[in-house]
Amino acid sequence: MNIILLGPPGAGKGTQAMRIAEHCRIPHISTGDMFREAVKAGTPLGQKAEQYMSQGLLVPDEVTIGIVRERLAQADCANGFLLDGFPRTIAQAEALDQILEDNPIDLVLSIEVPDAELIKRLTGRRVCKDCGATFHIHFNPPQREDVCDQCGARLHHRADDTVSTVKNRLEVYKQQTEPLIAYYREQEKLVSINGDQAIDQVFQDIAQHLEARQ
Ligand code: AP5
Repeated sequence: MNIILLGPPGAGKGTQAMRIAEHCRIPHISTGDMFREAVKAGTPLGQKAEQYMSQGLLVPDEVTIGIVRERLAQADCANGFLLDGFPRTIAQAEALDQILEDNPIDLVLSIEVPDAELIKRLTGRRVCKDCGATFHIHFNPPQREDVCDQCGARLHHRADDTVSTVKNRLEVYKQQTEPLIAYYREQEKLVSINGDQAIDQVFQDIAQHLEARQ
């Protein structure tokens, strides 16, 4: 299955993506993770992306579409993939429709969570830069403070998880990404998921939709 995970910053896309990718045995493609890896490696792409990410703005469409086009051409995407954080604009969605002309998107899962909850989630998030696992200081704490349960590496606070940058990211989501809900509803691909529940319950709801389509 070719799946898109849509939702505002902090909705739980990354948290659920790891479970969905394992459940469906498909690669998890996160444009946010791809940009963060490029920033860490100091590549020209990373230097460009960082200028936008640090302010909570979107990286320009032509850059983002280019990296997704290359990633989807890789062999492991032949039997399906999970896109997390892409598309984020109508232009990106239209480009994706063209890239996938012969093998279109099957399902768009839109995770919905109230704004006040999103701010709490993002400011308390801790991430493992080594294995990608995500935790929360209150809602999903690691067994040892600031240590990843999965690989033992030190946990970090993402640079764009400050209150002011989170507010910008939410505004950008409403203006540029929320219109995708109507775009995919018109294509009859959209399923809304209540993301304001326990992490396991959110996954159970998602799994029901996945199983209904397999
Ligand atoms: P990206 O990394 O994609 O960030 P985002 O969309 O803002 O989403 P997040 O990763 O912040 O949140 P999430 O929904 O994955 O939540 P998570 O599971 O971690 O993008 C970063 C930046 O890159 C963008 O701002 C932009 O600059 C650039 N970029 C990326 N893609 C782009 C594109 N297509 N075009 C242009 N620019 C692009 O959960 C959050 C926290 O909540 C965690 O602590 C978690 O433990 C906790 N949590 C999760 N679920 C629950 C739950 N059910 N109950 C309680 N707590 C929960």
